[in-house]
Amino acid sequence: MRRTLALSLFAVAALLPGAARAQGNLTVYCSVQEEWCRPMVAAFERATGIRVAMTRKSSGETLTQIRAEASNPRGDVWWGGTGDPHVQAAEENLTEEYRSPRLADLHPWAVRQAEQARFRTVGIYAGALGYSFNQRELERRRIAAPRCWADIARPEFRGEVQVADPNTSGTSYTMLATLVQLMGEEPAFTYLRALHRNVNQYTRSGAAPARAAATGETLVGITFLHDAVAQKVGGAPVTIVAPCEGTGYEIGSMSIIRGARNMENARRFYDWALGAEAQAIAATANSYQLPSNRAAPIPPQAPRFEDVRLIDYDFARWGSAAERTRLLQRWEREVRAAAR
Ligand code: G6P
Repeated sequence: MRRTLALSLFAVAALLPGAARAQGNLTVYCSVQEEWCRPMVAAFERATGIRVAMTRKSSGETLTQIRAEASNPRGDVWWGGTGDPHVQAAEENLTEEYRSPRLADLHPWAVRQAEQARFRTVGIYAGALGYSFNQRELERRRIAAPRCWADIARPEFRGEVQVADPNTSGTSYTMLATLVQLMGEEPAFTYLRALHRNVNQYTRSGAAPARAAATGETLVGITFLHDAVAQKVGGAPVTIVAPCEGTGYEIGSMSIIRGARNMENARRFYDWALGAEAQAIAATANSYQLPSNRAAPIPPQAPRFEDVRLIDYDFARWGSAAERTRLLQRWEREVRAAAR
C-alpha cells in the first residue's frame, strides 16, 4: 500500500508543470556582467531542465565568499571572473578537480590555465586590459588625448581617473599585477601612488569605470578593453586605449566548488559552458571577450590580441595565494592609505 502511494505520488510529480524540477538544482556564482550572467543561466535551464539560482559578485569578493563558506558550501559552480582568484582558490583547495571532455575543443591558453591549476579551473574567455576616456569631456577640458599608462598619472588628470578596488575586483588586481610585471615592482608602486592622486573613486566592480567614462562621470575609466567596447557599441562617446607601454590580460575562468551539493549538475554546467553554442551567447549579451572554444565565433567587435602589445602574464605566479595576498596588502599600505 505504502509503495503504491509512493509510486503514484511520483507519477503525479512527474506530470506537474515544471517537470524540470526532477532534474534538480544548481547554484552558480557569476563574476561577469549581470547582463551576460542572466541569458547564460536561462539558456542552460532551457537546455537541461535544471533550475539555477545565480548571484553576481566580483571575482575577489566571490573568492572571499567561497572561502567563508568552505565548511558548508552553498555554491556549486563559479563561472567567470578573472583567472587569478580562481587559481588562488585552486591552490587553497576550495575548488574541485574536473577534466571535462570538452578540454580538447579549447584554445591552448585555456587548457594551460587548467593544467597549471591541476584541472581545478579552466579558461572560458580572454580579454586585454586598458582604459577608455570620454572624448567630449576631454575636448571640453582641452587635455591632450592619453595613449599610455604614464599619461593618466599626470597632474592634468587629477581626480579624473576611475578604477576598481583590487581587493574586490579581479579587473583591478589584473592592473596591479600587470604593472608589476611591466615596470618592475618598485616603479609600479611609485606609478600607482601617482595614479592614486588622480583616482576619484575605487569602485567595487571592475567594469563600473567604463560606464562612468561613458556618461562623463569620470574622464578616464580603467577596465578591460571589451568592457569599454560594450559602452561604445551602445553609442557612448568614448575612445578606447590599449596603453603604449604594453598591457596585461585576463583568462576569465570557471571552477567547480569543492563539496558542491549538486556535483553532477555542476559538471553538466561546466561541460555545457565550454561548448561553442553556450559561448556564442556572450556577443548577444553585450560581452566582447575572446571565447575559449576554438569553434565559438569571435564577436567582430572584440578587441583582438594582435592589435595590443601584450605582456607574457605569469598567471601561476600572480594567481598564487602568497603573491596575490602580498601585493594586495602592499597596495593597501602604500597606495590606498597614501595622502592625495
Ligand atoms: C567584467 C568583464 C569580465 C571580467 C570581470 C571581472 O565583467 O567583462 O571580463 O572577468 O569584469 O569582474 P571584477 O568585478 O571582478 O573586476
